[in-house]
Amino acid sequence: MLRPVKGVFSGLEFPDLLVGLNDPDDAAVWRLDEARALVVTTDFFTPVVDDPYDYGAIAAANSLSDVYAMGGKPFLALNVLGLPESLAADVGGQILLGGAEKAKEAGVVVAGGHSIQDEEPKYGLIVLGFVHPEKAITKTGAKPGDRLFLTKPLGFGVTTSALKKEKADPADVQEVIGWMKQLNDKSADLAVSIGVRGCTDITGFSLLGHAAEMAEGSGVGLRLHFSQIPVVDCGYKYAQEWHFPGGAFNNRLYFGKQVSFNVDLDEYKQMLLFDPQTSGGLLLSVPPGGIEKFVSLAKKVDQPIWEIGEVVEGHGIVVLD
Ligand code: CO
Ligand code: CO
Ligand code: CO
Repeated sequence: MLRPVKGVFSGLEFPDLLVGLNDPDDAAVWRLDEARALVVTTDFFTPVVDDPYDYGAIAAANSLSDVYAMGGKPFLALNVLGLPESLAADVGGQILLGGAEKAKEAGVVVAGGHSIQDEEPKYGLIVLGFVHPEKAITKTGAKPGDRLFLTKPLGFGVTTSALKKEKADPADVQEVIGWMKQLNDKSADLAVSIGVRGCTDITGFSLLGHAAEMAEGSGVGLRLHFSQIPVVDCGYKYAQEWHFPGGAFNNRLYFGKQVSFNVDLDEYKQMLLFDPQTSGGLLLSVPPGGIEKFVSLAKKVDQPIWEIGEVVEGHGIVVLD
């Protein structure tokens, strides 16, 4: 059961605000009645790829992901769009089309939105979803004994950063675009069906940053096995060539204190774990009793999963071989 949290206005309590700013999570959750709570989130960013349609689809998948990370089902969305005046008229249309078609794939209708003129394009969605008030999956729900699963590989940040510098191979970019466009809907369904309580999606704070938030929020320690963590092949290549975006260094600076490396890893491999992801996968804390069912259901629905570590008593993150 999620406990009610205080709102931002001191002294006022909002008993139906199940997840808000006091315990920041992937999305806010507001209880409507015994059986339904609203999940509300927004996210938007500057282009990560050159093609406007793909950019729109990736941004939409990324915005929807925060609802999935709460175990919710999204149903309604609004566009948030900023565009430079100088851009060809068609570009905005392509971004919105990419977003709308991705939303449709998720069973979500884009019912409007707002656009402004901006120096650099920006796009994303405001998303509403539903979740059962007692089944919301949060960053604070990991328990010692759970095992950790990841549903997409790493390496998106370093690859899109190589693309910005015109150093990326088009085939590599296409591979990463394919991953970033994938919805986290199937993995969220799996998580709900086996009673997962701890989950977050891997985005700008990197695997280690989001995992550190989960460890701290849940009051547990995490052990990650580097050799089991999936990375797209080109991710290693661009990491070795040191194409990391600035966010990777910020992540290391900010979250590095909570991480110890008990394995001899080249610096570029360590940095891959701090690489900011756009529309990354879910990090799921799966209770031991549900693992067999989780693995077999994932196979059945063709959802890739990688077991990357386990939850232990204590705090912080230890990276092992
Ligand atoms: Co999130
Ligand atoms: Co987000
Ligand atoms: Co308006």
